Amino acid sequence: PYSGFAVAAALELTDGTVLIGTNQENASYGLCLCAEQNVLAHAGANFHDTPIRKMAITARSSLRIIDHPISPCGACRQVISEHEDRHAYPIKILLQGEKGDILIFDSIKDLLPFSFSGNDLG
Ligand code: THU
Repeated sequence: PYSGFAVAAALELTDGTVLIGTNQENASYGLCLCAEQNVLAHAGANFHDTPIRKMAITARSSLRIIDHPISPCGACRQVISEHEDRHAYPIKILLQGEKGDILIFDSIKDLLPFSFSGNDLG
């Protein structure tokens, strides 16, 4: 309701289940939640043992037509990366605006190389 920037993230799990999350905004702006982290939290809570095969991300803006792929923010990349590590299963990432090119990456590591992970904690 505040930014006019509506993001949606969809997951396809390896059993074919599809989950959808959207960004959730609060008047206290710092509490806004990204679409990617919302849908991943849902997957973690309800489908804990099922790897994620794909994540698709798109967005719509009240200011203009989005004609280019929308990329996940740095914090979301970290969260996606840790879900990928947890299942040791690469998550294919598909990005598109309202129209235009679709970018496809075979793993979140293509968007977050040399990532910090749970292994670093020992
Ligand atoms: N947003 C997402 O949902 N995902 C991202 O990766 C980047 C930003 C949301 C947060 C906020 O509600 C709005 O987009 C503008 O930053």
